[in-house]
Amino acid sequence: MIYFNNAATSFPKPASVIRAVAENLKTPPSNPHRENVTAAHQQIQCRDKIAAFFNFPYPQRVILCSGATDALNMAINGILKPQNHVITTQIEHNAVLRPLYHLRDNGSIALTIIDCCQPGRVYVKKIAASIAPETRLVVIGHASNVTGALQDIDSIYHLCAQHNIPLLIDMSQSAGAVAIDTAEFPLAIWAFTGHKSLLGPQGTGGLLIGEAIDLIPWRLGGTGIHSDLESMPNIWPLKYEAGTPNTPGLAGLTAAIDYLQTHSIKYFADKKVALSRHLCEELLKLPETVLFAEAPDNNCCGVVSFNINGWSPDDIGYILQNSFDIRIRTGLHCAPLVHHALGTFPQGTIRVSFSAFNQHDEIDELMRALQSIIK
Ligand SMILES: Cc1ncc(COP(=O)(O)O)c(C=O)c1O
Repeated sequence: MIYFNNAATSFPKPASVIRAVAENLKTPPSNPHRENVTAAHQQIQCRDKIAAFFNFPYPQRVILCSGATDALNMAINGILKPQNHVITTQIEHNAVLRPLYHLRDNGSIALTIIDCCQPGRVYVKKIAASIAPETRLVVIGHASNVTGALQDIDSIYHLCAQHNIPLLIDMSQSAGAVAIDTAEFPLAIWAFTGHKSLLGPQGTGGLLIGEAIDLIPWRLGGTGIHSDLESMPNIWPLKYEAGTPNTPGLAGLTAAIDYLQTHSIKYFADKKVALSRHLCEELLKLPETVLFAEAPDNNCCGVVSFNINGWSPDDIGYILQNSFDIRIRTGLHCAPLVHHALGTFPQGTIRVSFSAFNQHDEIDELMRALQSIIK
């Protein structure tokens, strides 16, 4: 089997990640702040490693969640109040769009969605032109999960900071793919997921909440301590982490971060750039190909979308999986709006997404399969 669906979930995982999850499941369960200190210690270790990995100065402000969807819901619902205005963009995943549509459709917020250009980049000046006195939040994906395009987060952050508007950054596709230094962004909230380029298990992720920001707790429930209180204890990070945490997943995520640090982000980025370049060069040799991807030299996320004239993306995906055992993804990739900019709505695209474990000869095999399908 050839696996080219790493933008959905990376596979395979490093052996150390698999071992850490298995070891955790073999150990009698314990819940942080409840039965004993083992799980609490593991959680602290995971939080510290995540903070260090992103050069984030406040480990207590790393909130562990079940993934980026959970984290983004927590940030959006925890910061917005009625009558607020929010700016977001056409490149967003439904993990951003649906929570915002829900609030807009309730009449709670006003929403502006900024267009992007091909291959999925947003102009900062368009965000500037949409800022209003009521704007309370800007939400943007750092990297597109459809084209791999990276946004200019520094400029967007500085624009938002000038207006004292918090910036929520969805780094689901960029975390572990590009170097991210979060130290100088007090008005930013960073959402990450563990199961893509961070190489951790599904069901892990979280938020890094800048020091100028306080969210209203969104997920309410048991914390193991201060159980007499009717509201969430006002203790970071506890007030955001109600419920039983995914301790096997967090053990795996901790091991994944250790693994990433035994190499370097540049090592992973260079491999994905080389694979993306190889694929794009081969695709452009096929006259039927239409390519929708970040320029290969910038494609650190290793995400390449394309279509083949005369074929539906779903048919290509079906044949690749069932006749050639090649796993890619087709369709809208949960990011419907960007396809209006690409001209690929509603059928979407064929998406190949790499990890550093992929090999160049797998691309040659994909190309042979595509040529044989087209013939
Ligand atoms: C850009 C983007 N944001 C958010 C998500 C949701 O992440 P999770 O699966 O961790 O909830 C994804 C996953 O596909 C994504 O690609």
